[in-house]
Amino acid sequence: MDLVYNLIVVLHFIGLASVVGGFLVQMRSTDKGVNPAMLHGALTQLVTGILLVGLIEGGAVDDEIDMTKISVKLLITLVITVLAFVGRKKTPPQVAFWGAIGGLAIANIFIAVLWH
Ligand code: HEM
Repeated sequence: MDLVYNLIVVLHFIGLASVVGGFLVQMRSTDKGVNPAMLHGALTQLVTGILLVGLIEGGAVDDEIDMTKISVKLLITLVITVLAFVGRKKTPPQVAFWGAIGGLAIANIFIAVLWH
């Protein structure tokens, strides 16, 4: 089960790269908005994150999680996902949505790595 868990961690990093990459690539664009990489990356983070929690809590892997930390990450990711869906429906540019999603995703990296 460790292999499955580790493969999902890899997908979790690909999802991270997708949201943050989709954000960063538009840094100098005049038409900033929610691109598919940001939306699909957010969904990837949601699905892979929940799967990781399920595997840990189900006892499939020998790891522990801080539920407060995970709840904060989950809440932020839900906000990111809603912003991505709502933002995509607006006429471009969608600068506020682009900035909020990128900022929140980067905040989640800080939380993931620094919160112990
Ligand atoms: C934009 C959203 C997210 C980002 C950028 C993100 C980022 C990260 C990063 C960088 C790690 C590796 C941390 C380390 O190994 O030190 C990680 C691990 C993990 N993430 Fe996320 N994550 C996001 C969303 C979520 C969500 C929504 C959940 C669950 C509901 C989640 C659950 C986990 C778990 C269980 C781990 C492994 C255990 C841990 O280190 O706490 N993540 N995440």
